[in-house]
Amino acid sequence: MALVGIDGSGKTTQAHQLAALLTAHGVPATYWQNAGGRRWLGRIARRVGRRDPQHLLGRTGLLFVESVLRWLAIARALLRSTLRRRVAVMDRYAVCQYASIRAHGGHRSEALARAFYRIFPPPDVTFLLEVDPAEAYRRIETRGTDHETMEFLSASVAAYRSLPEHPSFVVIDANGTPAEVTAAIVDHLLERYRPRPEPGAAGTVEEVPPAGPAAPGPGLARIATRSA
Ligand SMILES: Nc1ncnc2c1ncn2[C@@H]1O[C@H](COP(=O)(O)OP(=O)(O)O)[C@@H](O)[C@H]1O
Ligand SMILES: [Mg+2]
Repeated sequence: MALVGIDGSGKTTQAHQLAALLTAHGVPATYWQNAGGRRWLGRIARRVGRRDPQHLLGRTGLLFVESVLRWLAIARALLRSTLRRRVAVMDRYAVCQYASIRAHGGHRSEALARAFYRIFPPPDVTFLLEVDPAEAYRRIETRGTDHETMEFLSASVAAYRSLPEHPSFVVIDANGTPAEVTAAIVDHLLERYRPRPEPGAAGTVEEVPPAGPAAPGPGLARIATRSA
């Protein structure tokens, strides 16, 4: 599962919460931070007297480094969760890189990024946390670890909406409290993985859960009541 959206939309908060909830209800899941290294590069930039990472590496250089770092993080997350047979809860995924490239105006690099990221499977579910840029701005300022401009946050919202993958996203209103956002995510999962009668078994009372590791099973049914 992937949680995507602009900075300050609550991805990290919700991805941690979701991995913990799934695990507590019998679906072993691991949180993965698929960072592109901007925050870390920002610290290096300031240490060497540059304003921000873009000032250090240039726009194209920064998008390249970010794409490589995020690619490595996603590859590691996929490999390790496959080996451990655990659901991967991805805090950012490939589409975040395409959105980042669009929001930073580096459209020509997108085809290259897509060529490299193509090997990654699409998530079973991608949640797009949609938040008002002004609310995201407030949250980032309160968090106090980094800074984004309103212009950039608005451009990021537009970038996610413009992606060809956008129709496949499950859009979650992320303006509410953390508990409300979690409840919306869990509601979707409950609906998606609700046990359904087998085709042709109309009238039977027995319901069969979908097969495969992504089918969370009956434990998920208890999540909504606990998280709401
Ligand atoms: N629904 C919410 N309402 C208010 N504050 C939130 C909410 N979700 C997260 N926060 C806080 O806002 C900041 C940004 O959230 P975070 O999860 O880091 O977002 P992201 O990973 O998308 O940048 C954090 O300080 C977090 O504690
Ligand atoms: Mg985060």
